[in-house]
Amino acid sequence: MKKNIASLFLLSLALLSCTQKKETSSVISGTTSPDSIEIKITALLQKMTLEEKIGQMNQYNGFWDATGPAPSEKNAKNKYEHLKKGLVGAVLNVTGVEKVRKLQEMAVNETRLGIPLLFGFDVIHGYKTITPIPLAEAASWDLSLIEKSARIAAEEASAVGINWTFAPMVDISRDARWGRVMEGAGEDTYLGSKIGIARIKGFQGNDLSANNTIAACVKHFAGYGFAESGKDYNTADISLSTLYNVILPPFKAAVDNNVQTVMNSFNVVDGIPATANSFLQRDILKGKWNYKGFVVSDWGSGLEMIDHGYAKDLKQVAELSAKAGSDMDMESYAYVAHLKQLVESGKVDEKLIDDAVRRILRVKFELGLFDDPYRYCNLQNEKTKIYAPEHMAVALDIARKSMVLLKNEKQILPLSKTQKNIAVIGALANDKSSPLGNWRLAADDNNAITVLEGLQKLSTNVSFARGVNFVTEKTSFPNEVQINETDTSGIGEAVALAKKSDIIIMVLGEHGMQSGEGRSRSRLDLPGLQQQMLEAVYAANKNIVLVLMNGRPLAVTWAAENIPAILEAWQPGMLSGDAIAQVLFGEYNPSGKLPMTFPRSVGQVPIYYNHYSTGRPGPKKEVFWSHYTDETNKPLYPFGYGLSYTSFQYSNLKIDDGDQSKIKVSVLVKNKGKFSGEEVVQLYIRDKAASVVRPLKELKGFEKINLSIGEAKQVDFLLTDAELGFYNSTGQFLVEPGDFEIMVGSSSEKGISGVFNKK
Ligand code: BGC
Repeated sequence: MKKNIASLFLLSLALLSCTQKKETSSVISGTTSPDSIEIKITALLQKMTLEEKIGQMNQYNGFWDATGPAPSEKNAKNKYEHLKKGLVGAVLNVTGVEKVRKLQEMAVNETRLGIPLLFGFDVIHGYKTITPIPLAEAASWDLSLIEKSARIAAEEASAVGINWTFAPMVDISRDARWGRVMEGAGEDTYLGSKIGIARIKGFQGNDLSANNTIAACVKHFAGYGFAESGKDYNTADISLSTLYNVILPPFKAAVDNNVQTVMNSFNVVDGIPATANSFLQRDILKGKWNYKGFVVSDWGSGLEMIDHGYAKDLKQVAELSAKAGSDMDMESYAYVAHLKQLVESGKVDEKLIDDAVRRILRVKFELGLFDDPYRYCNLQNEKTKIYAPEHMAVALDIARKSMVLLKNEKQILPLSKTQKNIAVIGALANDKSSPLGNWRLAADDNNAITVLEGLQKLSTNVSFARGVNFVTEKTSFPNEVQINETDTSGIGEAVALAKKSDIIIMVLGEHGMQSGEGRSRSRLDLPGLQQQMLEAVYAANKNIVLVLMNGRPLAVTWAAENIPAILEAWQPGMLSGDAIAQVLFGEYNPSGKLPMTFPRSVGQVPIYYNHYSTGRPGPKKEVFWSHYTDETNKPLYPFGYGLSYTSFQYSNLKIDDGDQSKIKVSVLVKNKGKFSGEEVVQLYIRDKAASVVRPLKELKGFEKINLSIGEAKQVDFLLTDAELGFYNSTGQFLVEPGDFEIMVGSSSEKGISGVFNKK
């Protein structure tokens, strides 16, 4: 009772202050305890007209940049007019203190209630200081470094006025053809969940209201990474078991770790577009998971429901999306045009609007925008934080740690600093744009350190031949690339240099703009004439180190069989050349492990380590088992795989199942080689028989350790019900008794095994 009186008192105070001090946002500043925030939201909601509430649910692109096709703007002829009327709750793609301040002033000073705006932007792998693409960062398996990378991105983004990033993308994907695999953490749910949490912590920090932390947004809810045939925006046909066990857990982990916002997705799930999917957004996200933040649509995803054949017009888009729990409309113009009338005619319950607005306002309160709407508008920060030396140091560190050594025959690597006659071949070796990768919207053009520049810093014995002209890049948005498929004229130059060199570093792969949104591929080979050039150079000199720069797993089967050393460098960001050179010369001993399986051929895709066993697993001599007649079932390189310049020995696997609620697994790992180095120790389980078939292997623990030469360390893991259970097709989490196999090792294919019985 006392509590009720106290809250009534606070509520009336809040209401009073709202009415007294004109309608500016400062009326609702002050303490930000959860209770007081709810009271303030209630007070504010009561003052808002229906139109103003709907305004909060509307997000506009800020004209200066676009990340998607602009839908017809007939419903928002003048976005500024809408802004001044309080019909806009958030904008995206407006950056820079001056521009942000200008729009924020309009919202705060010129609207009736002065509710500040959210400023969203795709801060995906760095803001200005571009770090490796997210798939590459995932290959580091280094959670604290991934968190730091997100932290520096938030430091820079918040310094230019941004308070909300559309990241991390936590879509699990098993299909390397899908261009957006570059933006996620790969194929594994467990690793993907941990990385998602690390990124959220990095963006949001410990105090969301600080001026250097920004709201995160997990996306795309849900199933976007399961686009059929890897074609972007395609239908996702997902079983409930896959949905609950593979796709949803990273989102659930994000919600459990206080992620402020969730973005839905373009795709259809089980016949219903994600944007209008009540089962996903209302039943699971806001229902079962008790999520308190808001859901933003993807760019125009509401409008696209007309093309999907789900909504007949924009009005129905508004109705279906609002009812299904899509709280904010990004660039569909549906809510601002039709929601008011839908509520007034009784088609949409105003309570749903209130709920959506409450969620949006809550995030604004959490960010401290009502206390100081300009807290992200500090010119001094804008000057000092961008490209801060400590940010560059993190970018270099994570670039080195993201690289995966795929092959190193006869220890050809690391190169000696005194190595004579080093040839560097390949257009990508001298490219200052491609290594930045896609989704680097704010990057300054052409500011990556090239491989050639990096190598020249460490050696004076380097010569360069570009070889075939790989691509032509159009630098303006949307940065299309044209692949050279015909002009072989550079091959002669490459071969001539190879002939007079002792060692050749060939830098091949994909252009940074060949992956990312809308960049699906039907082939996974080296694009253009690169394979032809590789074989021509190999015919002249076999002493080749292949450095791959790419945004997705590639089926480089010929190279894997013939080239003695291969380093997967991905698109490592601004410090690319330095990081690659330091790895090649052994200043850093590679420690990355693949977060996604590399196929031998595109016909094997989707290929992933944690698949089920068929009833005919084989291998068998006769034909009737689950296999291809023209290709092995094995991948080119499995999930979790990656070499080091040193070697690690695993022994002493011990399983202690005395306490069934915490099964202890330990292993001894020893550095047996001639270099100190890091190893990612991985633990996999297999539930031998369960009421829902479980995968052959599932990652359930990992630890990255550093071992000096000859050093051994014991690594301990704890398996609780959280690791041993699974979801059935009604979304119920089950932990069942029975035998479990355990494997601890250096990849999903190599390790030492044991068994225990769960009672
Ligand atoms: C993408 C989202 C992105 C949004 C805003 C869309 O095209 O799918 O991931 O956040 O654009 O830029």
